Amino acid sequence: MRILVTGGAGFIGSNIVDALLADGHEVAVLDDLSTGKQTNVALNVKLYRADIRDNDALTNIFNDFKPEIISHQAAKADVRESLQRPQLYAEVNIIGSLNLLEHARRVGTQKIIYAGTGGATYGEPQYLPVKEDHPVNPLDPYGASKHHVEHYLFLYNYNYGLKYTVLRYPNVYGPRQNPFGEAGVIAIFTYKMLNGETPTINGKGDKQRDFCFVGDVARANVLSLTNGDNQIYNIGSGVGTDINTIYEKLQRATGFTKPANYAPDKPGEVYRIYLDATKAGRELGWEANVGLEEGLQLTVESLRAR
Ligand SMILES: NC(=O)c1ccc[n+]([C@@H]2O[C@H](COP(=O)([O-])OP(=O)(O)OC[C@H]3O[C@@H](n4cnc5c(N)ncnc54)[C@H](O)[C@@H]3O)[C@@H](O)[C@H]2O)c1
Repeated sequence: MRILVTGGAGFIGSNIVDALLADGHEVAVLDDLSTGKQTNVALNVKLYRADIRDNDALTNIFNDFKPEIISHQAAKADVRESLQRPQLYAEVNIIGSLNLLEHARRVGTQKIIYAGTGGATYGEPQYLPVKEDHPVNPLDPYGASKHHVEHYLFLYNYNYGLKYTVLRYPNVYGPRQNPFGEAGVIAIFTYKMLNGETPTINGKGDKQRDFCFVGDVARANVLSLTNGDNQIYNIGSGVGTDINTIYEKLQRATGFTKPANYAPDKPGEVYRIYLDATKAGRELGWEANVGLEEGLQLTVESLRAR
């Protein structure tokens, strides 16, 4: 299949590109390289450098590549920044996505696979692990903007027959995650530990998250090419792991011995969340293959090599 991966120079998108190439597809990347890197894109993959807000650029790209499928990963994805710049998050994540949908409709794209967020869509969970029909109460503009697009996906299918699959990711980690961002605790801690610096835990370290290895998330995208039409799926392990535990496991994996620094908590983040991915198991045939210990080891090795 001919597949356009938006955000394909970023952390998750570039891992998806690799999985799609290994599955034998023709792949191109659309990315403005705002957080993504050209070096993440395989040499045999065409990179269209453009902003998804730029309709003229999208016209040319869609006329040229005519994607049969879009894997839509491009987004502004920093919860704390979104609280400072809510309009920017709406412009990129909502209007940018709407631009893609319009061009998809114009050139006859069959399906869009969308990177949703399980961590920022549901709000503070009413029960755990969270299922897809849990009430949606995003606590920040990032989560609200990401969820908003799910409504457009539904109505573009309803009105124009454009198929979609929403994959609501948990906390994704693994090779190519940016260790200098605000998010991505595993990449940040690993990088610091490998450089002999003591990481800082915001709050008491008892917040729980659902950590999923990026290769497993990429595989969910590959499975969605031919399955899960017009459905929403949680992707995750169903298990919460607290930040102190991540710290200890990374100490063992890196050989770093010093205890963590602790700083005041940051506002706007849920206390505990982990996702029930039973539906993805049943309908996509997806489950997490890489356990936390193995995934952390792979992450440490890849950052060490860098
Ligand atoms: N990392 C996680 O744990 C996680 C969790 C839930 C959902 N997601 C979603 O997964 C997707 C990928 O996230 P990531 O962690 O790989 O982040 P990332 O920042 O590494 O990737 C995003 C990519 O989109 C590109 N991009 C940003 N704005 C763009 C624009 N206006 N036009 C074109 N390209 C643009 C960036 O350059 C980057 O390559 C995002 O949609 C994010 O919301 C990530």
